[in-house]
Amino acid sequence: MESSERMSDEEVAHFFDLRGKVALISGGGGALGGAIARGFAIHGADVALADALAAAMEPAAAEVRARGRRALAITCDVVDEASVQSMVDQVVDEFGRLDVLVTAAGIANRIPTERMPVEEWQRIMDVNVRGTFLCCQKAGIQMIAQGGGKIITIGSVRGFQGNPGGYSGYTTSKAAVHGLTKQLATEWAKYKINVNSLAPALFQTPLTKQVLEDKALYDFHMARIPWGRIAVPDDFVGAAVFLSSDAADFLTGVILNVDGGWIAS
Ligand SMILES: NC(=O)c1ccc[n+]([C@@H]2O[C@H](COP(=O)([O-])OP(=O)(O)OC[C@H]3O[C@@H](n4cnc5c(N)ncnc54)[C@H](O)[C@@H]3O)[C@@H](O)[C@H]2O)c1
Repeated sequence: MESSERMSDEEVAHFFDLRGKVALISGGGGALGGAIARGFAIHGADVALADALAAAMEPAAAEVRARGRRALAITCDVVDEASVQSMVDQVVDEFGRLDVLVTAAGIANRIPTERMPVEEWQRIMDVNVRGTFLCCQKAGIQMIAQGGGKIITIGSVRGFQGNPGGYSGYTTSKAAVHGLTKQLATEWAKYKINVNSLAPALFQTPLTKQVLEDKALYDFHMARIPWGRIAVPDDFVGAAVFLSSDAADFLTGVILNVDGGWIAS
């Protein structure tokens, strides 16, 4: 669209319509990836899920199919370059294109820095940073060939600030994801690829249950959230749909905090 043009009512009305789009979600077997997969399907997208754990993707794939959309589950290790290339190839073989990438594969640990084995630190960096880079690179090459696309990385409020709980791997990795997001947004604007990051605060999943059942940690997190509750995975779906949609065509390089006001306070 030229800057002097107005959008038609039709275009504005269909801002959030993902029909005809193909989305790929790494970490699609996880809590966040699964919630976003369902949201994408409800808004009309076909969805490919990729995860290291094949069985973990079955519920999300079933949810997509139950909404009349096509689903594909791909076993993939995001740390391995050949595996990531194969993931993108399988999506294109099956659906013919790739419009949206969400990089939701990620891991965390909570070890005080003075006791953090460097191998553990590196493991976090490998999955969260190398894995995000590889998924963006391979999907981006496909999007460049197609003439555009949308990439949503998954950052974290921890990418902005330290935490007393021992997150030197995780915090470093998420700050790197935020930096990579801005770098790719700048480099790939000329290819009409929007690259943004969704940065959640702690949310309820089977893996964070242990943290949230610890009263001191629960109180620590609640004290930082002006909205007054801990998030659930569905709290991020609206932002993911928005960032994947035509409504976000002029939005790139943004780290979107979906955090109940954590970072603002
Ligand atoms: N849970 C939270 O409170 C929280 C807060 C902020 C950010 N995040 C981020 O959100 C994202 C999703 O987190 P979640 O809570 O849904 O976690 P989750 O553990 O439910 O999902 C992550 C998925 O990534 C997959 N995965 C891990 N390593 C992989 C690899 N090498 N290759 C392919 N897949 C791999 C896992 O099998 C899992 O299914 C992560 O990036 C996480 O850092 C989570």
